[in-house]
Amino acid sequence: MRYPTPSTTKPSESSRATKHPSRSPKANAAPSKGVHARKHVLKASKTRRASHYDPKPPRITVHGLPGYTGGILPPDAVDPRPPALPLDGFECIRTLGDGAYGHVLLVRAREQPNLGKLACPGSLFAVKVLSKERMKLIDQKYPADTNAERMHLSALPWSPWVNGVVGTFKDELNLYLMLEFIPSGCFYDVIQTRGPFDAATARFYFANIVSGLYFLHGEGIIHRDLKPANILIRSDGYLTIADFGHARLDEIDNGPATEWLMIGTPLYMAPELLCYQHMTGYSVDWWAAGVTLYEMLTKRTPFFGMDENKIFKRISSGKYKWPKGLRVGASLKSIVAALLTTTAEHRLGVKDSVLDHPWLENIDFDKLDAGNYMAPWIPEAPVPTQTWLNKGLPPPHCIPGLKVCVPAVHREWDDRLPRKQLPI
Ligand SMILES: Nc1ncnc2c1ncn2[C@@H]1O[C@H](COP(=O)(O)OP(=O)(O)O)[C@@H](O)[C@H]1O
Ligand SMILES: [Mg+2]
Repeated sequence: MRYPTPSTTKPSESSRATKHPSRSPKANAAPSKGVHARKHVLKASKTRRASHYDPKPPRITVHGLPGYTGGILPPDAVDPRPPALPLDGFECIRTLGDGAYGHVLLVRAREQPNLGKLACPGSLFAVKVLSKERMKLIDQKYPADTNAERMHLSALPWSPWVNGVVGTFKDELNLYLMLEFIPSGCFYDVIQTRGPFDAATARFYFANIVSGLYFLHGEGIIHRDLKPANILIRSDGYLTIADFGHARLDEIDNGPATEWLMIGTPLYMAPELLCYQHMTGYSVDWWAAGVTLYEMLTKRTPFFGMDENKIFKRISSGKYKWPKGLRVGASLKSIVAALLTTTAEHRLGVKDSVLDHPWLENIDFDKLDAGNYMAPWIPEAPVPTQTWLNKGLPPPHCIPGLKVCVPAVHREWDDRLPRKQLPI
């Protein structure tokens, strides 16, 4: 049996070609043999390849395939990723933190078939539990902020400066945000236990925050609640920014954010957040970075007051004092003053780049990004008996989708049991 030749399969093409009035008879003539004939065939095949009418080959995008950078895979390619792990593939073993919007729990991957590398049994993650009820309340108050944390974190590329999201889950009561587990606690505790810092230590930590903010701002995200309690310390001693509950995208195309929201933590709020005439943007994060730098050096915040009104009054005035007897270099004083400039448009980070300030001139930011500086303090690896906040686990009915690990009675060190129940 003979298959039809390509020319016989496309009669319409040849008939269209002969009908075209501008086409010379030479162009329609059968190609002669030799080099010209080859050129003609090549040209014809090129035009055919570019045809709009050809069905496109199926395009399968597989992220995470080693060595694969995108493109066309054969249709029978198998996605090499392990199936997504369900929420009940984890068990809750500790309470890590308690925040305004819910608990942060420590979870461990359970023994299961088909686990991927990320979730091999025993892998630890932090899970932020966001109650749907509370989310509804926030939704009424700040509609743009619901789900903001999940949306912004999921869209971000991985960066060491940001506490990245590993997965998201939900059940009938809560949304669960699974994050990288950072075992060494928050920067607030580091300042309180190891501070106040000398200039060199403060410079290292501040440079971490600067790198983190430039990364976030580069992705169009304003954090809006930067403070030591929302910065975590990694096991290599570097900092990572967490808690994106108040973060929002800066709509660059629509100009700076104009709506007025008094959002954040009063002690770290920039003056423009207190005054609805001003627009808010990246400037609020640079103000908070200035407050954090002052806090690293003095162990207290620059605009302190017994009530919110006093705090807001001090913030609006922009006046603060350095503790008596504390020796602070002129360059260090000048960077704090430049960050705590009340007019947002004149603030360091908005007007000029923070990287160009003389106090940071000895920091090589590429070296910092690569993690090649020795951190001033490397936290000790937590032992299995490490407890966080000494808080009990949530009752199982509050987190129906997540298994709560019942502590083994023989583990004498287990803090989750009331003392009197412990064996002697
Ligand atoms: N990925 C994490 N690893 C370890 N601890 C964490 C992690 N994320 C949060 N925590 C702990 O939980 C606390 C509250 O978390 P955060 O995200 O700030 O919640 P909230 O929005 O309620 O303030 C943090 O101060 C920190 O101690
Ligand atoms: Mg927080």
